[in-house]
Amino acid sequence: MKIAMPDQLTKEAQEIVTQLLDARKRELEVLSGLSREQMLGSRNRTIEPPIWEMGHVGWFQERWILRNFDKTPPLNNVADGLYDSFNIPNAERWDLAFPSWQQTHDYITEVLHCLVGRLTGREPSEEEIYFYRLVINHEDMHSETMVHIRQTMGYPQPGIAVARPLLPDIETDFDPHDVAIPGGTFMLGATPDLPFMLDNEKWAHPVEVTPFRIAAMPVTNAEFRAFVEAGGYHARELWSDEGWDWRQQAGAGKPVYWRREADGSWCTRWFDSYRPLEASLPIMHINWYEANAYCAWADRRLPTEAEWEIAASAEPTPDGRSFTTTKRRYPWGNDLPDWEKANLDSAATGPLDVRALPAGDSAFGCRQMIGNVWEWTADTFDAYPGFEIDPYDTYSAPSFGQQKVLRGGCWVTRSRVIRNTWRNFYTPDRNNIFAGFRTCAL
Ligand code: AVJ
Ligand code: FE
Repeated sequence: MKIAMPDQLTKEAQEIVTQLLDARKRELEVLSGLSREQMLGSRNRTIEPPIWEMGHVGWFQERWILRNFDKTPPLNNVADGLYDSFNIPNAERWDLAFPSWQQTHDYITEVLHCLVGRLTGREPSEEEIYFYRLVINHEDMHSETMVHIRQTMGYPQPGIAVARPLLPDIETDFDPHDVAIPGGTFMLGATPDLPFMLDNEKWAHPVEVTPFRIAAMPVTNAEFRAFVEAGGYHARELWSDEGWDWRQQAGAGKPVYWRREADGSWCTRWFDSYRPLEASLPIMHINWYEANAYCAWADRRLPTEAEWEIAASAEPTPDGRSFTTTKRRYPWGNDLPDWEKANLDSAATGPLDVRALPAGDSAFGCRQMIGNVWEWTADTFDAYPGFEIDPYDTYSAPSFGQQKVLRGGCWVTRSRVIRNTWRNFYTPDRNNIFAGFRTCAL
């Protein structure tokens, strides 16, 4: 079954359908080319079986659109028992009786077909628009998850049909440096002008920030290699108690995908093959503990969420002594992302040199704050003051107090999802996401 754009759609519905189809196209691209065994994969505490990922995005649409608005009975009698992430623990997800690839594909296609069909010839309500955006956003997040599952499992990189029209602009004399940011009262969080947001971003609220200095670029492989080679993984004093416990249990002496060659050089695993470590790519696939140990060694620290968001979104006042109250949606301003400003949407098939894309700099001169690699921040993921839970109540709240915040998106993140105020979160031991970090001066 191929889903086409129906004729009788309002402008709003047309935009929704375009995005639904685009999100699905990407989801199927990142799932493609895997064998039956690969679609199941092997038990792993931090990822899901790809076949589960495939069914889950369809189930989520059924749950929040068809069941929510039309009170339809379940389209089949297995989906609820398989794909409800909150009620089926990760450990059990390899023991489930999954339908075949074809059956799973048919199920999610049928759901999508219903989602598109019910928009024909009428104006969707505000509430419907919200839930449609939710399911688009959700599928976008899962298409990123599926790419990090492929990296974790050592599967081939998905072939994604995007051609980058230009070689990235790399400013070769952009050397590592800090930018100075004045203090003041900053409105941390989202403002109501955004078309869609989840509960954890609400709402912009005042936080007091003292002046700070933040790196214009993320930490590179070369910088992190110096920490590894200086014995950073064996220096107890650089690690927190929890971080050291992780290091001991994992037996970690280097970033998880690095491998030392006979000549002393380093390679790193990229999906299903090893590549020489590239000095000026951002460090990736390190967890929050490793980022903090590096900081302790380098006499640096992670930025707080507020500091990160100021560096990305605020503009200096003309006298340079504070920042204005207006906030940019993206580091470069309010224009939507494009290839010259941010490495998103898998357009570049991997991370770019930390000196690339000067057109995406923030007002304070910080580069690549959106795209390329997620950036760990110092903060624990928590509710903002006045937090009100969304109908999709198991998205943020169960993770409050348990996880660390990452900002900015990575080379796989869909440009529809990401912006300066977006908060991602993972437990501090996760080293299989496309995450690095930038540092602040002490
Ligand atoms: C916010 C990316 C951590 O993948 O666990 C998808 C997003 N939540 N379905 C995750 C999510 C429910 C979430 N992250
Ligand atoms: Fe999900």
